[in-house]
Amino acid sequence: MTVTKAPFGTMPDGRDVFEFTIENDNGMKVSVLSLGATLRSIILPDKNGNEQDILLGFDTVADYLEKSSYQGAAVGPCANRIGGGKFVIDEQTFDVIKNETDQNGNGVTCLHSGGEFSFEVWQSIIADSDSVEFCYTSPDGLNGFPGEMKVQIVYKLGQNNDLHISYKAVCDRKTPINLTNHAYFNLAGYASGNILSHVLQLNCSQITPVDAFSIPTGELMSVAGTAFDFTEPKQIGKDINNDEEQLKLTGGYDHNFVIDAADGTLQKCAYVYAENSGIVMNVYTTMPGVQFYAGNFLKGETGKSGTPMEHRSGFCLETQYYPDSPNKPSFPNCIFDAGQEFISETVYTFETMAD
Ligand code: BGC
Repeated sequence: MTVTKAPFGTMPDGRDVFEFTIENDNGMKVSVLSLGATLRSIILPDKNGNEQDILLGFDTVADYLEKSSYQGAAVGPCANRIGGGKFVIDEQTFDVIKNETDQNGNGVTCLHSGGEFSFEVWQSIIADSDSVEFCYTSPDGLNGFPGEMKVQIVYKLGQNNDLHISYKAVCDRKTPINLTNHAYFNLAGYASGNILSHVLQLNCSQITPVDAFSIPTGELMSVAGTAFDFTEPKQIGKDINNDEEQLKLTGGYDHNFVIDAADGTLQKCAYVYAENSGIVMNVYTTMPGVQFYAGNFLKGETGKSGTPMEHRSGFCLETQYYPDSPNKPSFPNCIFDAGQEFISETVYTFETMAD
C-alpha cells in the first residue's frame, strides 16, 4: 500500500489544494482532494484489462468550485434538503441558507447546507500507508447552522478493493448532523456515456416520497409495483421515464431509499454492475437511508480531460439520514446534543467480472 501527496492547484485566495492518491497491491488507485475532502478518482482495471476511472470530476480547482454539482464532495453539516430553510430545536427557530430558488428567484429550500463542507479546504494528513485524514472546523452560525462543529473524515483503501469512508463530527451546540459523500459513479468509466444500462439492486423496500420542491412529505412509500422497485437487480434505464408522479416531480430518480436492514451497523444497501466494463460495486453503510440520484441535472458541463458530463452520465448513492429529517419527527433522528458524537461509515467494494 502507498499514499502519495501532490499539489493539485490553488484556491482563488492562494491557498494550496492537494491531491492524495492511495494505491493498494492490486493496482487499484483512489485519489482525494483537500478541497471539500473530495473523492476525485477511483481507478481499477475493467474486464479487458484496461484501467478505468469510474468517477466523474474535473481537472482544476476552478472547475470544482464553479461547476461542481457537488462532484465527489463531502457534504455537511446537513446533507440534502431542509424544507423552507428552517428548523426548530428546543423551541428556537433556525433560519439557514436557502440556496435553492423558485422560478422567481426566491429562496425556498436549503440544499447540502449551502455547500459549506464541499467547497472549503480541509486540513489533511497521511494517516497511514492506506489512509488519508481530513479535518475541518465549521464556524458557529455559518449558513445559519448553530454551533462550532469539528469534523473528521478518513478515506482508507483496503487490499480487497474496499474503500472505507469514516465520518466523525461533534458540535458545541445541539444541531443537525448528516454527513455524506456526493461521488458520481460511472462503472464503465467516466467517458463512457450514460449509466442507463447499469444494473442496480437496492435493499430498500420503501422510499420517502417528495413534493414539488423535493422535500419529503413525511410518508414512507412502498416501492412494490412502481419504477422505484430495485429489490431485484434491474437496469437503471428500464423504468426511469415511466409516467409516475414521483419520477415526474424530480425528472428521474432523485429519492431517498429507506435501507431495510438499517440498524446502525454496516449493512449492504446497494449492488451496481456495468456489463460493458464488468465492474461491480457494492455499498455498505451504517446510515438509515441512501439517496439514489441518477444525474438528472447534468447538462454536458466539461469534466475530466474535456469530457462532457452528459445527462445521466453518472449516478450517486449518498448514504444519509433522510432528507429534511430536522423537520420530520417520524424520521430517524439527526439532531445531536452539544458534545454528542456523530459517527458513521460507508464502504464501497469493487470487483471486476470476466465475461
Ligand atoms: C440531490 C439532487 C441534486 C444533487 C446535486 C442530490 O443529493 O438530491 O437533487 O441535484 O444532489 O446537488
